[in-house]
Amino acid sequence: MKNLENFSINYKKVLFRADLNVPVIDGKISDFSRILAVNQSIQKLLNQNNKIFIITHFGRPKGEVNKKYSIKFLIPFLEEIYRVKKIFFLENLNSKSIIKKLDELNFGDICLVENIRFYPEEEKLDLNFAKKISNHFDVFVNDAFSASHRNHTSISGITKFLPGVAGDHLLKEIHNIDIFLKNVKKPNIAIIGGSKVSTKIKLLNNLIELFSTIVIGGAMANTFLLSNNYQLGNSLVEKELTNIAKDIQSKANKFNCKLILPIDVMCSNNVSDKINIRTCNVNKVLKNHMILDLGEKTTNFICNEILKSKMLLWNGPLGAFEHKPFDISTMKIAHTINKYSKSLNIDALAGGGDTVSAITSANAEEGFKYISNAGGAFLEWLEGNESPGIKALKDKKI
Ligand code: 3PG
Repeated sequence: MKNLENFSINYKKVLFRADLNVPVIDGKISDFSRILAVNQSIQKLLNQNNKIFIITHFGRPKGEVNKKYSIKFLIPFLEEIYRVKKIFFLENLNSKSIIKKLDELNFGDICLVENIRFYPEEEKLDLNFAKKISNHFDVFVNDAFSASHRNHTSISGITKFLPGVAGDHLLKEIHNIDIFLKNVKKPNIAIIGGSKVSTKIKLLNNLIELFSTIVIGGAMANTFLLSNNYQLGNSLVEKELTNIAKDIQSKANKFNCKLILPIDVMCSNNVSDKINIRTCNVNKVLKNHMILDLGEKTTNFICNEILKSKMLLWNGPLGAFEHKPFDISTMKIAHTINKYSKSLNIDALAGGGDTVSAITSANAEEGFKYISNAGGAFLEWLEGNESPGIKALKDKKI
């Protein structure tokens, strides 16, 4: 793959694919890591006097212009973080507007392109659209690992028409996740949470072959408990997946992988009901209650398993962590990793939007060797799928 070290880009018109799909809560960016992540590549391209056009998606506007998903609000943050006086803005990707904007920019300037998902062509991998845009540029840099699992025009279409180069952050993500997967040290533990088994079937099947212990938490664990005939009241479950949950447990048995399911849980009527919280064994969930977090016994058991491990992978919170106090198990696990991973030599890797935000709110970043800012792309990489975006860069013969 070409990269910013082995392929020189000077005084060029650069299309730069970033993933600035940042989390926004109550109108405020709650985590800047995706903006910061591409800064290194941006600085290199600025120093080499290029005209940089940043393309990103934001949310899922489904191919329609929708003010709610405009990315204009990013401009002041990009100006500050990328240390430039002015970030230009390109509202429309028609040829006339691109040419006009290219004329306005000096070499060493940056222009942000309005949300690429305002175009229906983006998600359809439309090569005519890719060609029309590419005609105005010299080179394409992809620094959006977290979006590279999408087979979209701005990810895998542009490379058909322009030299494709991997950005520094994209390479860093691949390098760190691959090192982890290639240097398996046992005993190792994978902690997999989140709400749906359906999104993680392939991942779990893959991890069973690599890990000595897998913890299943979050609402996902409910489907496993249901498959083992527990009555779970109003808890979230995917009834249609109980057979899959059974198959996963059988496979784990066959591969000698210890699967840890909750033995006790914290329940209430719903996430907002802080009055009727009750912790009980998994066979004692009340009919009108739902499981919202792991109980103390399970959490302590997991923490002990962590301390026995040499390697740890974490994806997905273990309870409804956005709603206190149902963050207790997630926070305790984050603190345990933070406190002991260095002294006990546990290589810890984490990824996924919610996981990263839980680790950040626990101030536990130091405990991890690497934290990926990718969600779906991180999971797909762990599943062993080659992202279309990376494949497009590799296939490209410059
Ligand atoms: C993400 O947040 O995981 C990436 O930006 C991809 O977004 P998407 O799931 O909307 O394609």
